[in-house]
Amino acid sequence: MSDDIRGTSRIPLVLDLDTGIDDALALAYALGSPEVELVGVVSSYGNVTMETAARNTCALLELLGRPDIPVYLGLDRPTASAGPFSPPPGVVRIHGENGLGGAVLPCGCRTTRQNGVDFIANAGVMRHRELCYVPTGPLTNLAAALRRSPGLASRLPRVTFMGGALTVPGNVTPCAEANVHNDPEAADAVLHSGLRTCMVGLDVTHQAILTREETAAWRELGAAGRLFAQMADYYIGIYEKNNPCLGGCALHDPLAVAAAIDPTLVRCLSANLCVDLTGPTRGRTVCDPARLRDAEKRCDVALGVDVPRFLGEFRTRVRRALGGR
Ligand code: BDR
Ligand code: CA
Repeated sequence: MSDDIRGTSRIPLVLDLDTGIDDALALAYALGSPEVELVGVVSSYGNVTMETAARNTCALLELLGRPDIPVYLGLDRPTASAGPFSPPPGVVRIHGENGLGGAVLPCGCRTTRQNGVDFIANAGVMRHRELCYVPTGPLTNLAAALRRSPGLASRLPRVTFMGGALTVPGNVTPCAEANVHNDPEAADAVLHSGLRTCMVGLDVTHQAILTREETAAWRELGAAGRLFAQMADYYIGIYEKNNPCLGGCALHDPLAVAAAIDPTLVRCLSANLCVDLTGPTRGRTVCDPARLRDAEKRCDVALGVDVPRFLGEFRTRVRRALGGR
């Protein structure tokens, strides 16, 4: 375990991001949260390639004044895929060519070569009893770490992931949410691994909406605020075309970080989930028929969220990260 963590009472947090726009907002939420210590960020593919996600994360950490936080390279392709992942045109439209809605960050010269799967499988901090591990992209890196280190499932206290949809339709197919759709095998392996998980899926993230009113206020906060407003307004613009009834963009990834830090923000159904791996429902998260009657349930599926309280926390924490009071 790192000395930094041993000496503080803050909760260690590790993020696993496919750094597009809402991942960037999740990163800001984490950095604006005084009760957590962000000890590392693992990169994943999804909204962008894994390499672009790592570059975006490095640039965002510099922009937000935390270039000291380590960034790790994750895997660049889904579990069952022979070639590296590159985002399809529909995804490029949603997050922009660079994953950040075209916002050009002033830095981004830092690079990293550290291995993210090794970090998840072996790092001492991953054994901390209060560790929050929060993937907001596909679960590929975590599934690979579990294969490499099978004891990890009993060592990791709990994983809160953004992904899936239990009671609502998917956002890529009628059944599948994007992060699970990108690697259904990995999600299914994690849900069968014995790990305690909390699923923060579309059931709740489509209730947590960021509006242009809030992003307008960020523009008063200096360079970081203006860049985040530019990114978020781009994302809101996509939602205005694709999903106008929401009145803004969904805060998918920030809600997962928020629920990891404060689980009382969401109301959950305990269940044992699996993922459909074949046929037209591939990528659907569903209660596992084989474990329906098991007394012990390993996944808390968020089905309700205290929207006003979450939005209040989001406002305070993101403004703090952007340099506001
Ligand atoms: C999820 O997919 C990605 O595009 C977003 O960053 C979020 O993690 C929403 O389905
Ligand atoms: Ca994401």
